[in-house]
Amino acid sequence: MSKKLVALIPGDGIGPEVVAQAKRVLVHYRDVRGLPLDLWDLDLGADRYLRDGTTFPKEVSERIENEASAVLLGALGDPRVPNLEHARDILFGLRFGLDLYANIRPMKALDDRLVPLKNRSAKDVNVTVFRENTEGIYVGMGGQFKRGTPDEIAINEDVNTRKGVERLIRAGFEFAKKNGKKTVHMADKSNAMKHAHELWYRCFFEVAKEYPGIEAKHVYVDALCLYLIQDPSPFEVVVTCNLFGDIVTDLGAALQGGLGMAASANVHASDPSRVAMFEPVHGSAPPLAGKDLANPLASVLTVGMLLTHLGYPDEEAKLEGIVTKAIVEKKCTRDVGGELGTRAVGDFVMAQLQG
Ligand code: NAD
Ligand code: IPM
Ligand code: MN
Repeated sequence: MSKKLVALIPGDGIGPEVVAQAKRVLVHYRDVRGLPLDLWDLDLGADRYLRDGTTFPKEVSERIENEASAVLLGALGDPRVPNLEHARDILFGLRFGLDLYANIRPMKALDDRLVPLKNRSAKDVNVTVFRENTEGIYVGMGGQFKRGTPDEIAINEDVNTRKGVERLIRAGFEFAKKNGKKTVHMADKSNAMKHAHELWYRCFFEVAKEYPGIEAKHVYVDALCLYLIQDPSPFEVVVTCNLFGDIVTDLGAALQGGLGMAASANVHASDPSRVAMFEPVHGSAPPLAGKDLANPLASVLTVGMLLTHLGYPDEEAKLEGIVTKAIVEKKCTRDVGGELGTRAVGDFVMAQLQG
């Protein structure tokens, strides 16, 4: 059986600490469970950039594109590198370069204790967000004019293509269909962004016609933020643009216990055989870095999503069960009510996997 190449990019800040624990899980699957995995450690991130100027070399991106099945990324962002120069090359090099147009971010609370809302429990928080991942305000089109003068102008264009919008919306409906979900919400600001989001609005209801069993509902993104903290239970699948997806999923992370619990997958949804990239939703959390404080469970859940992509969905369910147990038994870090360090949480996860 040919081996599946998994590239590991620990990155910056807490990235290396959480990826170290995620890697133990992958090594277990490779060495103990015999999955045909080939792990490839990549030294990319702020340290490397500051050392020799390297961000995301062409030979690395080409090998990832042509040979890898998956990439696991920790986080990028370092106060020593202003303007996130290196991070953009790597993160957007993967998302845009590999055309990973759907950023799938489950907001799922695994235990009642993690839900901060009054009169709500874990069963009320189970939303899968499909964030458009290759367009929008993120493409970097625009520029600055008369910079540093009182007349300066700064423009970032919001790019929305029919192809890009339609394929992301379709990915959300396909997910809903496969997973027995009854509704898909589309969150936009078509009341303010009358060109770009009129496209989203029109396209959403057109695509929805292909899925008669699924109710298509429109919601303005500002109202969605309100509803999610009043009562998230009516939401099952949310499709939205790049920027709103970023913001809404940090809000969503708060409903599931914080960023230490939020996993994500970046995929070319219409062709699962293509390489995909997996990363926790959180960033590099510089104040926590190097202190053994970071919660590695988002990364363990992210490995679960990666294993489903490689064809082992039962393992994702198993890892979710172990993470739930870590929370219930308080074998977790402080952000989720435990007292353990990052490595000790990894020890608990490994003991469960081995047991
Ligand atoms: P952040 O996600 O790093 O941190 C936000 C808050 O969540 C902080 O209070 C932090 O302590 C907490 N937190 C995050 N991850 C945690 C974990 N695993 N365990 C416990 N607590 C955790 O966001 P930020 O502070 O806005 O950004 C820091 C840097 O990370 C910036 O450079 C930012 O651009 C970058 N960033 C990168 C990514 C990525 O690589 N995908 C994602 C988000 C932010
Ligand atoms: C994320 C991050 C990134 C994003 C930043 C670091 C550019 O916030 O992955 O959620 O906005 O996509
Ligand atoms: Mn974000």
